[in-house]
Amino acid sequence: MQNLEFIELFKQNKQNGSFSFAPGRIEFLGNHLDYNGGDVLGMAVNAGVYCLGVPTDDNTISLFSENIGGSRWLGSVDGFTKQSGNFSWTNYCLGVVKELQNQNLAPKNGFHLLFSSDLPTSVGLSSSAALELATAHTLLQLAGNTVERDQLANICRKAENDFVGMPCGILDQGTSAFGKKNNLVCIDCDQNKFSNLALPPDTEVWIFNTRIKHDLVDSLYSTRHKECQEVLNIVQSKFPEINLLTECNPSMLDATEIPENLKKRGLHVIEEQNRVRAFKEGLESNLNLAVLGSYLADSHASSSDKFENSCSELDFLADQLNSHKSVLGARLTGGGFGGAVMAWTRDSFSENEAVTITENYKNHFKQQIDFHQFRASDGVRTAHLYDENPFDTIR
Ligand code: GLA
Repeated sequence: MQNLEFIELFKQNKQNGSFSFAPGRIEFLGNHLDYNGGDVLGMAVNAGVYCLGVPTDDNTISLFSENIGGSRWLGSVDGFTKQSGNFSWTNYCLGVVKELQNQNLAPKNGFHLLFSSDLPTSVGLSSSAALELATAHTLLQLAGNTVERDQLANICRKAENDFVGMPCGILDQGTSAFGKKNNLVCIDCDQNKFSNLALPPDTEVWIFNTRIKHDLVDSLYSTRHKECQEVLNIVQSKFPEINLLTECNPSMLDATEIPENLKKRGLHVIEEQNRVRAFKEGLESNLNLAVLGSYLADSHASSSDKFENSCSELDFLADQLNSHKSVLGARLTGGGFGGAVMAWTRDSFSENEAVTITENYKNHFKQQIDFHQFRASDGVRTAHLYDENPFDTIR
């Protein structure tokens, strides 16, 4: 089925169809803290994934993405398994279907879902979480069910942990769910509490994308996840009252017999947690922006030296940006091992200056990279066909 046919189908079923949008996210501060029960700051961006849903009266599921897969996946609500190859993108949707079924929230009959994304590709803005949230929001509407935003985020995280098999924390799904215009999303990952924090109006957020994706990025992420668990186990053998790595302090690490690489991982997590708290309190009490920005620069240095999830390309960009007079702070964002650097800038930082950064990068690495400026935006929501409509043909 072609997109146009689907849109016709959607028009005919407007009454019982549904249309959702879920934004991508930037990890603003708090690297690898979410699955360690820490506090993280995310920002939902003004780009994401749109999902059109139409119910069927049999048990068929059809999933089509004009950007991602380019072909249609067909299955049944009565049973499906994890997909591979060209259809591996459908696992984010199928994981959500499965989790909604487990919680008795899924539509009883089948459905067609059509996806479209205006997120730049391979930028590390978590198109996967946006896909999950857009799927969940659409299917809940089709089923006539409503859940709170925190439950929605948790359903999607569970889909990613259990069905996709990625041991991520709640940062991506929580940010896509709780995004707010001109605000950051603050997540207390231990208590599963979400709130917003206004960004100063005269600042902007940019992404510089290396396009580097380490082949082993998923397994390196899992390795860091396991290492953090090992650090916690070592600390707990001496301090049984500790429940989370983010509750530790450096002297606890000193008091244990811990291999050097694990000690560095632990120190990164502990110090990063302190930076997030200091940033949050500083922003709430109007602390000098340059001081706030320095927490972002320190975060990058710690990811690079202690958590060792950076690479020379990300370090180069972070160095260039952190020494620029209009940049408040820059750091690698997301899982690391390639991907992108985010820069929080004064509004005097212009496109020309972003171009200069990419030219310096090109001179050094012989590689052209792209950059994007984003606005902090609202979280997952019902989309309206005639506002931010990615399907021009519907007009
Ligand atoms: C990825 C994961 C998130 C988080 C970050 C690192 O984006 O999906 O859950 O762990 O890495 O902070």
